[in-house]
Amino acid sequence: MTSTNILIFGVGSIGAVYLYQLQQAGCNVTAVCRSNYQAVKDDGFTLKSVRFGDQRYKPGLVVRSVADCPSDKIYDFVLVCAKSFPGSKPSLADMIRPVMVGRPQTAIVLAQNGINIEKEVADEFPENPILSGVVYLPATQTAQGTIEYPEMLNLLEVGTYPADAPRSHKSAATRFADLLIKGGGGAEVHEDIQIARWSKLLMNGPWNPIGALTLCTDGDFLLTSTPFAYDLVWEVMLEIIALAAKVGIPGIDVKEAEKRISLSKRRAETGTGREMSMLQDVKQGRSFEVEAIVGNAVRLGRDHSVPMPRLETIYALLKARHFALEKNGK
Ligand SMILES: NC(=O)c1ccc[n+]([C@@H]2O[C@H](COP(=O)([O-])OP(=O)(O)OC[C@H]3O[C@@H](n4cnc5c(N)ncnc54)[C@H](OP(=O)(O)O)[C@@H]3O)[C@@H](O)[C@H]2O)c1
Ligand SMILES: *[C@@H]1O[C@H](CO)[C@@H](O)[C@H](O)[C@H]1NC(C)=O
Repeated sequence: MTSTNILIFGVGSIGAVYLYQLQQAGCNVTAVCRSNYQAVKDDGFTLKSVRFGDQRYKPGLVVRSVADCPSDKIYDFVLVCAKSFPGSKPSLADMIRPVMVGRPQTAIVLAQNGINIEKEVADEFPENPILSGVVYLPATQTAQGTIEYPEMLNLLEVGTYPADAPRSHKSAATRFADLLIKGGGGAEVHEDIQIARWSKLLMNGPWNPIGALTLCTDGDFLLTSTPFAYDLVWEVMLEIIALAAKVGIPGIDVKEAEKRISLSKRRAETGTGREMSMLQDVKQGRSFEVEAIVGNAVRLGRDHSVPMPRLETIYALLKARHFALEKNGK
């Protein structure tokens, strides 16, 4: 049997760890790299991790863009680990198109945060399995090709988009999850992945923007103004719960939100607050996922007449923060 061919589009923090796992599982992986292209081409990746130890490895092939992939090569999976920038040009669909045309079996896996990020891709590739993934894997690329991954946590929750996709799409999800598990990680196939996506939004919706705007960890933020800081986070969660109920996502409720916020409360008490990824992006002058995580939520709120004054305020401030970053590089 020939090995499974995988293309990873955007091989930074998450992508480099999945590349390691997929190669461990015996896949031939092509890495599409942008700013770390030369470093990865010359020296491969260096992974410093708790879960997998310290590792050095090279992808099966490194390219600068999807157009540079061998034209006769058929990929089983195109794993997207670039940040999600809905509406940006060229679109993600356009960037991966060279390996998609005439290959209805190639599955696209979106390992990205946010909500409503799938349609833009699915509309362009109506035959292909679209797998939506929710990633729990705290990793950071600290220098080009060097990845630090200091925790054991490693979980991909994955399911088809839409939930009622054909059986062959469902089996692609199972096959992909099995590869990550074989590579030493964790993965779960979900019947309706949107529930998991929205559950993560309960945390990312308030905490990523608050981190980016204040440069505080979640724990520190909660201690900066009592009861206002806590109330802000909690009420954003309540707005997301109301929106989920209105658009028909089950299980996104107060109990789920309490679980999420109690983690931050504990970190406040123990002085072990977490730097959210958007906070790290701001510190490093990198563009962050304002639309995928916040913009898509507030727009959906407007479409469905769900009042979201707290999150809308945060969105407007975060958009301006993003503007300043793009304009001034900081
Ligand atoms: N890191 C985490 O701990 C974590 C945890 C859970 C979920 N996530 C989610 O996972 C996704 C990926 O995050 P990440 O932290 O891995 O991001 P990241 O470290 O910034 O890596 C993304 C990589 O994609 C590359 N890229 C972007 N556009 C590209 C293009 N057109 N062609 C080639 N390469 C391209 C970037 O290159 P450049 O350096 O040139 O921009 C970068 O190397 C995000 O949706 C994030 O929210 C991350
Ligand atoms: C992996 O794929 C690349 C690109 O098609 C190819 O050059 C290389 O020989 C493959 N490696 C293995 C071990 O099959």
